[in-house]
Amino acid sequence: MKKWGVLTVCLILAGSLLAGCGGKNADQASVSDNGGSKTEKTVVLGTSADFPPYEFHKMLDGKDQIVGFDIEIAKQIAADMGAKLEVKDMDFDALLSELSSGRVDFVISGMTPDENRKKEVDFSNNYYKAQQAVVVREADKDKYKTMKSLEGVSFGIQTGSIQEDIAKSIPGAKITGLGKINDIIMQLNSNRVDASIMEKPVAEAFLKNVKGLAIADVVPEYKEDGYAIGIKKGNTELVEQINKTLDRLKAENKIDKFVSEASELVAK
Ligand code: ARG
Repeated sequence: MKKWGVLTVCLILAGSLLAGCGGKNADQASVSDNGGSKTEKTVVLGTSADFPPYEFHKMLDGKDQIVGFDIEIAKQIAADMGAKLEVKDMDFDALLSELSSGRVDFVISGMTPDENRKKEVDFSNNYYKAQQAVVVREADKDKYKTMKSLEGVSFGIQTGSIQEDIAKSIPGAKITGLGKINDIIMQLNSNRVDASIMEKPVAEAFLKNVKGLAIADVVPEYKEDGYAIGIKKGNTELVEQINKTLDRLKAENKIDKFVSEASELVAK
């Protein structure tokens, strides 16, 4: 419990102030097991921190931190609730069950509020939107200009994502499901898969730091392109509370500010 307290403090303090947080404790940012216990006035965020610029691990002042645009929003929500923020990092496909079982209070993870998920959990208003992109090896870039050209291709896809649905709808697509996008990038680089689908800002963020990959011309479409915050089904009070914070952030133009700050962090 204690380590989470320290992590929370680390997360609440901004950028350079993080120097004061113990390395060991800050490393716990990547550990998802806190035993499910919560103190009063602590709000627990569930996320899959493999998704720059939204949520990702970054060495800051020699310590592994979970940072990004979604994390900044989570801090604001916690602050408006007068609560401390805990961050639990896990595979994307574990998020909704953690939410339904109450082990996390809300999910911010670049999550698209699609119809199937709406049956399982509730969502805030959309706070952002993003297009899809196909990531391939640079040498193959010109092979993929149309949806037809993606037929029969082997894809590395994040398990449980809407990109899995998109890939499944492509005739003959061979899909390797992986928990973290970093692993997909490695599979692409080592020729074990030939393409991946992810949201464009995420593809661009990976391309800043990984050589040999490119975004193909083809742009797959999905029926929903927004991102929203997941909340346990029936917790309308928390939905309203979170929507209020989102309204405030939109009114203060903070969303765009967080996006550009997070993008700068990716490149750093
Ligand atoms: N927007 C997509 C979805 O909702 C992908 C989100 C993946 N998020 C992440 N943190 N890896 O399925």
